[in-house]
Formats: sequence, structure tokens, C-alpha cells
Amino acid sequence: MTYELTLQQAETHTSDGFGKSKTTDAKTLIKTWVKVRRDREIPEFDAIEKFNWCFEGEDTSRKYTEKLAEMLNENGGMFIEDALKLKEKDICADVFPIPALRAMKKAIVNYFEKTGQIERLRKATETVICHCRHVTDLDIQEAIEKGNNTLESLGAVTGAGTGCNTCITRVMEIVTRRKTALGGIK
Ligand code: FES
Repeated sequence: MTYELTLQQAETHTSDGFGKSKTTDAKTLIKTWVKVRRDREIPEFDAIEKFNWCFEGEDTSRKYTEKLAEMLNENGGMFIEDALKLKEKDICADVFPIPALRAMKKAIVNYFEKTGQIERLRKATETVICHCRHVTDLDIQEAIEKGNNTLESLGAVTGAGTGCNTCITRVMEIVTRRKTALGGIK
């Protein structure tokens, strides 16, 4: 079964979420759509009812895009939470960049936006900065907004930077960016 749409089909295709991404050489645009089987009582049981894709340009990652589509659509559709955790290495052994994977995650984020699922949107878009203590960029931003803008106080409040120390540069980058965004808090 193919889940690829022609450009003509794509023009009128409807879905619950849409996302797109370019190949690293920017020559190809991948568009993806997710239709969601929504579970209103247990949102974690939301599943992908249908994943479709199309591309404009030469899709050098086509075989991986097809494999991704099979994985998402098989057995009645993958849970959304599992789809968000997919990595390149789950699809291909040589960790080839797969723009359809990025586009698919954007389509899920778009679904969260369209349905007003703020907490899931937050979780889907945050990035783990400190792996030792599992502290995300959003955790750090929130702590900064509460006045913790030194490494010491951020470490005390969130735990960031209190393990192997390799995240310290990234933590301080967030502090600098956030300070600027908040108008230079002292
Ligand atoms: S990654 Fe943050 S302390 Fe190790």
C-alpha cells in the first residue's frame, strides 16, 4: 500500500495536522499529513489513523519515507506518543537524515495546536538540555523567569549543570537569550 500523495491529491487533502521539512540540500520539500484517531478520555491513546506524504523535488530519502509511513500506519496506527519518540536509527541502520520524520513530528505538533492541547504541545516542542538531570529548555526558561539567572541558582532549582557539567554552555546560552527577551533582567 502506498501512502504517498500526488501533488494534485495533496492540494485537496484534509487532515488533523500538517508539517513540512526540507532535505539538507534544500532541493526537496517533504509535506506530511496526519489524521488522528482521537481518544478524548485518555489523550495518550491518540493514534495515527493515517499518515500521508508527498514531495516536491527529488526525494533522496524515499525508501526511508516509505518505511516510516509503513511503521506509522501498520497495526491500526502508531500511538502519537510513540511516533514523537521515533528517531532516524529506528528507521534506518545508517542514520540517514529523514526529513519526513521531522515533518511528521511537526504535523503532530500542528494537531496539538489546532486542538488546543497546550500541555502536550509544550512537551512535544521542548528539548532536553541537561541529560544528567533531565532538565529541558522550558524548565530553565521558567526558572529564569522566576529570577534564577545564575548557574548556581538554576542548578539549585532545576538541577541543570549539577552532574557532568557538559550542558553548562547551553544553559548559559539560554540565560543570555532569555535575559535579552525579558528586557535584560539583572
Ligand atoms: S548534562 Fe547537565 S550536568 Fe550533565
